Amino acid sequence: MEIRTDLYLGDSKKMLKKLKDNSVDLVVTSPPYADQRKNTYGGIHPDKYVEWFLPISKELLRVLKPTGTFILNIKEKVVEGERSTYVMELIIAMRKQGWLWTEEFIWHKKNSYPGKWPNRFRDSWERLLQFNKSKQFHMYQEEVMVPMGDWAKNRLKNLSETDKKRDNSKVGSGFGKNISNWVNREKAYPTNVLHLATECSNKNHSAAFPEELPEWFIKLFTKEEDVVLDPFMGSGTTLLVANRMRRHSVGIDIVPEYYNMVREQLKPVALYILEPETLYEQTESDRRIAIR
Ligand SMILES: C[S@@+](CC[C@H](N)C(=O)[O-])C[C@H]1O[C@@H](n2cnc3c(N)ncnc32)[C@H](O)[C@@H]1O
Repeated sequence: MEIRTDLYLGDSKKMLKKLKDNSVDLVVTSPPYADQRKNTYGGIHPDKYVEWFLPISKELLRVLKPTGTFILNIKEKVVEGERSTYVMELIIAMRKQGWLWTEEFIWHKKNSYPGKWPNRFRDSWERLLQFNKSKQFHMYQEEVMVPMGDWAKNRLKNLSETDKKRDNSKVGSGFGKNISNWVNREKAYPTNVLHLATECSNKNHSAAFPEELPEWFIKLFTKEEDVVLDPFMGSGTTLLVANRMRRHSVGIDIVPEYYNMVREQLKPVALYILEPETLYEQTESDRRIAIR
């Protein structure tokens, strides 16, 4: 089967309305953070962030399949010496909108260089919030297993009696562990912390994320020929990786320069432009055909 890429040039708030209900398996995206990068593609005031994002997350909820997942890469900025609270407010507002807040992964930027500010240290992590539409979402955990690592060599050499039976969590979480289960295993499940370097050599975009980031979530939440959406695609990292991994992809960006850059790289099947209310399909010869 041919793998498809669809690109949309315009505001996600409007463009997402053109996508079908329950048509996407995974959304991975990094929207503009409040007020940052004002000079490149505009910023949203921290007090207005939730109000700005909710119409977009409402559309994402509609287009996501019940088995799908939404990964939102975001971090609150510091304003006058205090962390903003818009991410927390957004989580609460999205839950009211109907989303389940299933998990929070941390992206540890392992190559952050040291620095010091009067009242804080270098910020070297970002949130990757996982939202779902239902508890029955697809998750292919075996796809992201990691080598057991050196801890296992010592820890598993001399097992105590407790290690040989299931040891239930003392806090009543329902979790338990049986250390002896890991003897002779080569791979273990990872944690919810992703240690990835930031992308330095990336593609003419000031805020591109490393390819390993969408790659990890695409492996974990999709299989071949599923559909991956990035409504703030920027340089198209999510789409490029999805394409390489034989997933269909849909990308939206408001800046023509990024749209054209991704278009050059991926030779998409379909290109869409909304001007102002009519949706045009743009052909390879740059003609526009009104479709909706
Ligand atoms: C943080 S960057 C994404 C970077 C991307 N993950 C990458 O690897 O290149 C956010 C992108 O959102 C785009 N953007 C901002 N507001 C938008 C909107 N309302 N609709 C669609 N795209 C928007 C910007 O042009 C920018 O490219």
